[in-house]
Parts: sequence; structure tokens; C-alpha cells
Amino acid sequence: MLVIINFKTYKEATGNNAVKLAKSFSKFRNVIVCAQASDIANTSNLLTTFAQHIDPVDVGMNTGSITAFAIKSAGARGTLLNHSEYRLSFEELKSCLSLAKKYKLRTVICAKDSEEVKRFAKLKPDFIAIEPKELIGGKISVTMASPWLITKSLKAAGRIPLLCGAGVHSKEDLLTAKKLGAKGVLIASAIIKNKNPAKKLKELLQ
Ligand code: G3P
Repeated sequence: MLVIINFKTYKEATGNNAVKLAKSFSKFRNVIVCAQASDIANTSNLLTTFAQHIDPVDVGMNTGSITAFAIKSAGARGTLLNHSEYRLSFEELKSCLSLAKKYKLRTVICAKDSEEVKRFAKLKPDFIAIEPKELIGGKISVTMASPWLITKSLKAAGRIPLLCGAGVHSKEDLLTAKKLGAKGVLIASAIIKNKNPAKKLKELLQ
């Protein structure tokens, strides 16, 4: 079971805190962190790091953009795309996907419903993550509230491995996700906001 921990822009997961977290997670297998672009160079030395986003532009005159080439050079192995906190149009997604492929980066496209899962599957990302926006950051997980959505999304994803996220916070959530057929989960607040993030992660993985 893959566990992707999204650092978002939480203070607890920025700068030196991002490095501390990455260090404490590095002993676990199948864990990937999504760090802010400014932290990738530091966390990628410690464990597999994805970016949280890339812009649909390549190297050149694009001041302020986050390029696939830049995150690759910083040590990222992949990127999240279209997170509900950073949505992209279908055309933008297409460009991001081809840039990610050009620079040999893995891709996880986030989708809000099974219709989107079906559309995004055509772009052939490495993973699709189903995340109902209204459950993000809360205590009710996608596996508790919407197991049907995971089942429906699995069908819609076809051969693309499906991940799920939003409100995931317990060992049971991970077990249910696995039982339903998801290949992994995306988690943020339950780990980052915990007093002892590494202990919480260990508990979830048991
Ligand atoms: O990318 C994962 C994230 O959106 C889930 O957030 O806080 O509900 O675990 P959270």
C-alpha cells in the first residue's frame, strides 16, 4: 500500500520542518512525500519526493513558474497534478502530463468524481487519486463516507492504479481502501497536524 503524504503549505511541513518530517518518515517503506517546490532539494535526499504541482510550461521565459525540469533537477521523482487546492484545465493537464513524461517524472492526477477519473485515465498518468473536496482536512474519511465512490472510480480508472484521499486518519481507513481495491492513500492533516507525525504514520501502517 502506497502512502503519499502531502505537506501542502503547512507551517509544520515547511523549510526545516519539512526536512525533519522527511527524516522521520525515511525509515518507512512505500512512503512518498509531496513537498513544496522550495523544499524538494532538501527532502529528496532523504526519501522519495514528489512536487505538489507543476505549471504547463517548459524551460525558458516563464518567470515564477514551477517547471517539470526544475523539480526534476531538485530531485523530485514525480508530481501531483490538479489537486483540488490547485485545479488545472484539461488542456493544462495534458501539457503537464507530456512535460512530466519528457522529464521522466511520475504523475498522480487528482480527480473529484468518477467522471473526472474516466476523463483523466485517457491521459495515462501513473496514478489517479480520487479526493472528494468536502472531506479534505476533516475527520470523516473518504473510505467511511464514500466507499461507493472508490468502487465507482476503480471501474472508471480502468488500468490506471487508483489512490484515494481526504480525511484519511486511521488504520481502518487504510485497510478499507486496500480492501476496496485502492493501491494507496493520500494523507495530509492527520499526520502533519499530529504531535508525533512519525508515530502516527507507524500506527497507520501497522
Ligand atoms: O492531498 C491529500 C489531501 O488533500 C488530503 O488531505 O488533510 O484530508 O488528509 P487530508
